[in-house]
Amino acid sequence: MDKLLCPSMMCADFSNLKREMEALEEAGSDIFHIDVMDGRFVPNFGMGLQDIEYICGHAKIPCDVHLMIEQPIQYVDKFADLGASILYVHPESECHPVRTLQKIHDRGVKAGVALNPGTSVDFAQPLLHMADYVLVMGVNPGFAGQVYIDFVDEKIEQLLDCREKYGYEVVLDGACSPERIKTLGEKGVKGFVLGTSALFGKGRSYVEIMEELRIK
Ligand code: DX5
Ligand code: ZN
Repeated sequence: MDKLLCPSMMCADFSNLKREMEALEEAGSDIFHIDVMDGRFVPNFGMGLQDIEYICGHAKIPCDVHLMIEQPIQYVDKFADLGASILYVHPESECHPVRTLQKIHDRGVKAGVALNPGTSVDFAQPLLHMADYVLVMGVNPGFAGQVYIDFVDEKIEQLLDCREKYGYEVVLDGACSPERIKTLGEKGVKGFVLGTSALFGKGRSYVEIMEELRIK
């Protein structure tokens, strides 16, 4: 199955964002993954709005926006206006996630349901009817460079089992190593957020790495 390889732009070299984006696009990236953090839903801050505006405004490939914030419904219009092709929201972050997913679809944007490691498929089940993507966090959200939480594998299996029924694709976010990409890709996981585990800070060209990840 052809994978979606999604560089996590919070891990990119911001000393020359233009050059980074061009190199990642030339390497065959499918989607730029943009993490938004508010310091409350997650204890960290991601890229600033200016960075996001630049990426969404200059990207030649689609951008997804992963809203690791409280009350994401308040910002659906903002990121839809910036050009996000997919908006990932955490149902743990608000009271009425169905309304948020409806708003995302009303804006003509694909809706992604993002699940923290401690969130069960059962909790999210009603939302699966509205999900174009399910973003499974392989780590506690908010930081790169973390260790994979092994029991997430069980949730991935559950989501893959009912993928046909609801029609979503599964994407892994967090500690996507080359080995995990191969194993989970073979099981049916469609997308992988590439951060420090597979892509950035390796001292090798993005073209070389992406080629290897693509054929695995
Ligand atoms: C986690 C972030 C991801 C990812 C980074 O909140 O959304 O960008 O963890 O990749 P790794 O985990 O490989 O450094
Ligand atoms: Zn993310």
